[in-house]
Amino acid sequence: MRENYLPAIARGIMVMLAIAVAAYSSRYYGVLDNAWYGIDPKIKAVILQAPLPALLHMLIAPVALALGPFQFYPGLRMRHPKLHRWSGRVYVVACIVAGVGALATAPFASGGSRAGLGFGLLAVLWLGTTAAAWILAVRRSFVRHRLLMRFSYAMTFAAVVLRVQIPIGFALGYESYSSMSPVLAFSSWIPNVVIVALYSTWQSWRHSRSGENRL
Ligand code: HEM
Repeated sequence: MRENYLPAIARGIMVMLAIAVAAYSSRYYGVLDNAWYGIDPKIKAVILQAPLPALLHMLIAPVALALGPFQFYPGLRMRHPKLHRWSGRVYVVACIVAGVGALATAPFASGGSRAGLGFGLLAVLWLGTTAAAWILAVRRSFVRHRLLMRFSYAMTFAAVVLRVQIPIGFALGYESYSSMSPVLAFSSWIPNVVIVALYSTWQSWRHSRSGENRL
């Protein structure tokens, strides 16, 4: 019983946080009308230095963040395979456009070169993992597709973890977002990737004991 509830609760929390962060990012649409309401001046400076990639990133990445969690609902996937495929395609295109935007924005990151390095590395891994997961789905290698998509979304979810870590950073004595962002550029995604790696290893061990070939 507990084993069935825990993943459902975790997925529910993931959906709520993802949708909340994606919805909050919609304020960046105002920038297209020169309205900067609710936007940190340091982030405004990043947008002014690299407007096209930064806005492509900030407007498209939330689509991947909001769509992603629904791809992991086994019931939805099995009952509506066509919907899973189409929303998966939108997710992949959103990750690729937003990832290229992120990679081009990273050198201008408000936290300087160390933050740029962390975000740049994340962008490269995000792009590579998502593209590989998509290729595996096209080749019908679904076990490996599912595994790589877990890693892809662990990185997409960095957007949520980063925003949860900001108040923790202030509580630890950092004075601004840009002063903590050289740490956030790594701490927002490395733990997610490690958790997915541990969870997937545990699941494959469990299934190999019961004779199933799944992750
Ligand atoms: C996973 C790979 C991602 C990378 C490499 C990345 C990279 C970046 C970078 C370099 C910036 C500029 C930040 C700064 O100057 O400190 C930024 C800002 C931003 N990113 Fe991402 N990002 C990623 C995922 C996402 C996702 C999934 C969302 C969805 C909500 C998102 C939404 C934003 C927004 C809204 C900003 C503007 C700053 C803010 O409002 O907090 N990013 N990102």
